[in-house]
Amino acid sequence: METSRIALPIGTTLDRFIKNNQEQFQYASGELSQLLRDIALASKVVNREINKAGLIDIVGAMGSQNTGGEQQQKLDVLANIRFTRALTKGGEACALISEETESYVDLNNHGKYVIAIDPLDGSSNIDVNVSIGTIFSIYRRKSQVGQPISDRDILQRGEEQVAAGYILYGSSTMLVYTTGHGVNGFTYEPSLGEYFLSHPDMMMPEDGKIYSINEGPAHSFSEAVKNYLKYCKDNNYTARYIGSLVADFHRNLLKGGIYIYPATAKDVNGKLRLMYECNALAFIAEQAGGSGTDGKERILTLKPESLHQRTPFYVGSKKMVEQAMK
Ligand code: AHG
Ligand code: MN
Ligand code: MN
Repeated sequence: METSRIALPIGTTLDRFIKNNQEQFQYASGELSQLLRDIALASKVVNREINKAGLIDIVGAMGSQNTGGEQQQKLDVLANIRFTRALTKGGEACALISEETESYVDLNNHGKYVIAIDPLDGSSNIDVNVSIGTIFSIYRRKSQVGQPISDRDILQRGEEQVAAGYILYGSSTMLVYTTGHGVNGFTYEPSLGEYFLSHPDMMMPEDGKIYSINEGPAHSFSEAVKNYLKYCKDNNYTARYIGSLVADFHRNLLKGGIYIYPATAKDVNGKLRLMYECNALAFIAEQAGGSGTDGKERILTLKPESLHQRTPFYVGSKKMVEQAMK
């Protein structure tokens, strides 16, 4: 049921904002609100740990590897623990899909929601003091409460997300999320321990001039991608690439731009993960007037076959994504 949007002033706390907008949710029982609060709380703890990263010995490789065979950083592990713990204690989630765990984790079987999370995105930037993030998607479970969890609950299409968001640990820390009624951004005030509404009703510029891509492996890009990059250069676009998806996406959301991670010789299906990177950002992009595709189809319509599935990703300002698709 569509309800009219309740405008709240800049400076509204995240808690109040969530509470005031609760009736927009399809199932307005307060559980989704609680889930968002749990995620916000865990992000504050992670934020504190990230800010201490240069001070104590929590930086650097642990020697273990995650599901993609990449080196796992200590903060990846810590962030995963923080979010898992907050979601377990909250009780609203029945299952958690995380970049850091091979299979999904059973939480409270009476919970009605399934969460997919990249606890720490851009981990190669941790020990060089560059912005990193967290990405999350929330789905309503399909099976009855109390029944065993199945693939039907876990492998849902992006268009079935009931909420999604990211936290950007940057020059300030921000939480940006959508429940399918527009996108709102909150900035963290560390001395008060609160997120405050700073970016109400975020809209991505329809067109832009920033393109964000790791061009290192350009020799192995498709001709179509090479042509688009030539188009960007011929039109004097600006290249900006941080190497933390959340940070690159956030800049393009504010300023107008396109983020591209295409298929390469090394990553033939692209590098990024459908379930806990691309779906959430494609949902936010669409809610902000932009779009997200895999080069052929809307990201949100792709049916996941496995938890850690990768996909090529083109996301950003609507006209730029359209141009790239040409
Ligand atoms: P993660 O740190 O969660 O593994 O994600 C890293 C991702 C993403 O944040 C970033 O955009 C991309 O990897 C960068 O890849 P390249 O180093 O290949 O450019
Ligand atoms: Mn990531
Ligand atoms: Mn990660």
